[in-house]
Amino acid sequence: MVTNIIILICGYLLGSIPFALVIGKLFYHTDVRQYGSGNLGGTNAGRVLGKKVGAAVILLDGLKVVLAMGIASIFSNEAIAIWTGLVCVIGHCWPIFAKFKGGKGVASTYGFLLASSIFIFHSATNFLIPLAMFFIVLYIFKFVSLASITAVITSSLFITGTSSIMNVESCFIIIASWCLTLLVINRHAGNIEKIKKGTENTVSWL
Ligand code: G3P
Repeated sequence: MVTNIIILICGYLLGSIPFALVIGKLFYHTDVRQYGSGNLGGTNAGRVLGKKVGAAVILLDGLKVVLAMGIASIFSNEAIAIWTGLVCVIGHCWPIFAKFKGGKGVASTYGFLLASSIFIFHSATNFLIPLAMFFIVLYIFKFVSLASITAVITSSLFITGTSSIMNVESCFIIIASWCLTLLVINRHAGNIEKIKKGTENTVSWL
């Protein structure tokens, strides 16, 4: 019990590391919150500091969740790994190290999906299908936000459709994935408004 609580707290703290802020301040003396959308995520870091920085932030934001869930799988069990992944993404969105104003949870949710593929499903499909959906929607509409929202909804639909509700871990992962989907949609409320008004940023490199 104590071990599980420690793992969950560590998951939140790990998720709270704001890589967009750390890399921006450390290497570019720039606070990305002051520029672009102001979001502490890979898209905005890429917009402000360049594509390579954006890619690094996306990778690190995803990997921190993989690490947290990996640690939880080793020292506890699959159920705790799932909840650790969820609190890690919550840490990313509301980080204790950045006044609880973090990112929108997309790269970290991908980390959750990747870790679930590795430690729980032992199959890459529930990671690859939403990823493919992300790129298809991005290619068609050019909005990272819309692609992100579509991808997380796809992942939850896929997980729900392919998991057996007779299994406790499967129920947990269905619940956790829908929590993440609702969280990501909620964090993109401003982007949805901008899409409606026609003022949302588009990617120029597609
Ligand atoms: O991952 C966040 C992305 O979906 C939107 O970011 O900076 O364009 O609001 P941003």
